[in-house]
Formats: sequence, C-alpha cells, structure tokens
Amino acid sequence: MSGAMSLTRFRELLQRRLGWTFADNDPGQTAAVLAARAKAHGLTEREYLDRLAGRRWTAEIAELAQALSITETYFFRHGEQFRVLRDTVLPDLIRRRAGQRVLRLLSVGCSSGEEAYSLAITAWPARPTPDWIVSVLGVDANREMLHRARAATYSPWSLRDTPEEVRRRWFRETGDDGFAVHPDIAATVRFAEHNVADDDPQLWHPARYDVIFCRNLLMYLTGEVAAGLVHRMTRALTDGGYLFLGHTDSLGSHPKGLELCHRGGTVYYRRQSAAPPVPAPEPAPARERPPARPAPTVDTRSRALGLLRDDRFAEALDVLGPDDALLRGVLLAQLGRVAEARDTVHRLIDVGGPHPDAHHLLGVCHELDCADQAAGQYRLAAYLDPEFAMPRLRMGLLARRRGDHRGAAANLAAALELLPHEDEERVVLFGGGFGRLTLTTLCRTELEACEVRR
Ligand SMILES: C[S@@+](CC[C@H](N)C(=O)[O-])C[C@H]1O[C@@H](n2cnc3c(N)ncnc32)[C@H](O)[C@@H]1O
Repeated sequence: MSGAMSLTRFRELLQRRLGWTFADNDPGQTAAVLAARAKAHGLTEREYLDRLAGRRWTAEIAELAQALSITETYFFRHGEQFRVLRDTVLPDLIRRRAGQRVLRLLSVGCSSGEEAYSLAITAWPARPTPDWIVSVLGVDANREMLHRARAATYSPWSLRDTPEEVRRRWFRETGDDGFAVHPDIAATVRFAEHNVADDDPQLWHPARYDVIFCRNLLMYLTGEVAAGLVHRMTRALTDGGYLFLGHTDSLGSHPKGLELCHRGGTVYYRRQSAAPPVPAPEPAPARERPPARPAPTVDTRSRALGLLRDDRFAEALDVLGPDDALLRGVLLAQLGRVAEARDTVHRLIDVGGPHPDAHHLLGVCHELDCADQAAGQYRLAAYLDPEFAMPRLRMGLLARRRGDHRGAAANLAAALELLPHEDEERVVLFGGGFGRLTLTTLCRTELEACEVRR
C-alpha cells in the first residue's frame, strides 16, 4: 500500500472511530503518527490499519486521540459566555431549581480542564446558600489532558484571560510559577474519559444537566457525529437548560428542541419547554430504586455485610468483589479513607446517575469537613427517596448541632415515622453500628430534646 493510500485509510478510520474530519489538519503529523503507532505495535502500516479497522481497539483509539487532538484551551476563554452564565443563566436556573438546590454542569471536550473549572468558579459562588450542590463534569477522549485536568495545577499562560480578583480568590500560587485551583472548586469538578463518536447512555441520560458547554469541538467533527452529539446534548439538558457552543459552531436559526438566545454579545441555546417531555428528577419510589448495590455474588456480599455488622471493616473490604461500589464506599468511609470513599461514590453516580444511597453516603463523607455540603447531600437523598429514613435522621442531628431546633424537629419526626419501615440493609450500611431499635431511641430522645427547646 502506498504512503498516500495508507494515510487516506488512516483518516477514514479516524473519522469512523473518533468522528474527526481532517479539513485543516497537518498531513505530515498524521503520517508521522501512523508510522509511530504501527511501529509501537511491531506491525506494518497495513497490518496496523487492518487491526484498527477490525474489532474495537479502545486503548489504541485513546492513544490516537492523545497524539492527534487539538487541545488549545484556557480559563474563561470567550469571557462573554461566562458573564452571560453568571448574570443571566445562573440566576434563572437558581430560581427554577430552588426546590432541589442542585446544579449540574457539563464540559464536553474539556481538554486539560480549564473550561470545567471556569464553570465551577462561576457557579459555586452563585449558590444562594451553602447547601446548594454544584457539580461539574468534564469529558474528553484525550487521557493525557484528563490527567492534567485532575492535577488542577496550571501555568500563568492558562490564566491569561482570568480577571485578577478571580485569580486571587480561586487560585493558590504553587511556588514554581504555577497556580493550583482552590480545593472547594477542585472538589466540585470531576473528569471522565468519553469519545463523543460513541454513545454512552449513562453520560447522556435525559434531563441530566442544567448547563452544557461544548466549545471548539464540533468544528473538528464530521456532520454526522456532530449532529448525533447535538441531539444527545439537547436530550440531556433539563427542561429550560442551556447549551453554549464555540463561536464558529452554529446550529442554524431553528435548531431542533432548542431556542436561540442572544445576550452580552454571545449566542447560546435554551432547551425549549415544549420539547418532548423531559422527566424532572422525580422522587424514585423506594421499592423501584435503581440497583446501586449490584451483588457480585450473594455469598460474598452477605459475608461482607456480616463483617460490617461486626465492625470488621478491613476484613469486609478484603472479601468484597470490585463491583459493589456502594458497600465499598461505606467500608472505606468507616475506615476513615474518606477521599477514596468519595471517589468510589462519585464513580457510582457517574455510571448510574443520581441515587439516594450514594448521595447519603456522600453526605456522611462531607460531615467531616463541610456540614453544609453534607446537609445538601442528605436533602438530595431524601428527595430522591422520600421513604429513606437515614438522611432525615442525619439532617435532624445536623440541624440540632447548629441550633436549628425547628428544622431538627421536622426531620427527626420524619425519621421516627420512617425508621420502622427502613430497609434492613440500609440500617446496616448507614446505621453506624446501631440497630433499628437504638436508632429509633436516639431519634426519639433527640426529638424530645429539641421540642423542649423550641
Ligand atoms: C480545542 S479543545 C477545546 C477545549 C475547550 N472546550 C475550549 O473551548 O477551550 C478540543 C477538545 O476536544 C477533544 N476531542 C476531540 N475529539 C474528541 C472526541 N471524539 N471525543 C471527545 N473529545 C474529543 C480534544 O481531545 C480536545 O481536548
């Protein structure tokens, strides 16, 4: 096969696997990558291309995304879009989401993370009260960029368009001329690998995000892949949620399911309310909860639960299979490995979407460092499953600790009513070693105490 033919075939495969169009790419670089990747596998270019054309070769696609994607980005790029987000979009969302007090934002093609952190820096201080949950997810196909994103440390060049007061408030100088993102912001943002040429029903779950930024990516994609991505993003927006694209990306004047908005010198889109119905995140009936507790084998799971009941957390962790993320998270939290517990739960939510038990466990993890965040997570858990007693109990105890006797009494009374029907496994997972009876007694005593003080 001639060099030109190999290159043409390579480009076709990149188009198929990553959705890339090569209108303005550098052919010399593409040819060099083809030669280098074939050599790395000890294959001729033809053998390499045959293999790439065959069954899915995910690891190699990731290598190619890393070698060939254009990753230019910086904090607050196209600053006018962040101003519209701050001044127009967030106030609207905050009004409409006041019942739930959760904002979810997504950065698609997030590169090394500057866009995702810029979203968090804009949304986090906009929370009307500290118990609002702001969650930002950044996705990209380029592993090296995701690695840098997770490190959350940047050169001054990345902050070239960042206002001075934002830099002072949300970054710490690292001593080697770098800037580390403030821990509150870093804790709000997570990153995941995703190739937009492939579907991922979990990531693109309907009505998942309030705001999606997908900037400077569509222009590299073929019409077909770009259209598929726009369709998924539209469906994944909450009713009235917002989509921001790059300056050179246009969806025309009548994009399906979206309404065009202009403000502050920028164009963006809002998911139309009249669009096909998007179910608001409704409380899931307790008995139809999605399975956050897949049992690798019943035996392993019940052994681990038995060990948890006996406070033998490390042993329980040893017998547990890799799949039972919730139980693993509970055990890690019990062992004081809170950061690992949080990571485990976040992964569970990434895959399975919002889940009452997972949010409750995040609340437990947060109780150590931020009571407001903990309260927010418990509130979300109780919202997702109104029959879940544990978050009511924890919210009651937290409210009592901060002297809010009225709030404490309301939650403790609800917990007292729900506790007799609480799922036995939830008592084991979240009861902190106490059984149903002890928890009920604790609840009643605390309730009486705060009723005296009301
Ligand atoms: C130019 S950067 C844009 C960064 C940021 N959104 C911005 O506007 O500043 C484009 C990003 O899209 C990512 N990308 C390219 N193809 C992709 C694909 N098929 N799936 C996911 N990400 C992809 C690249 O890895 C790169 O990080």
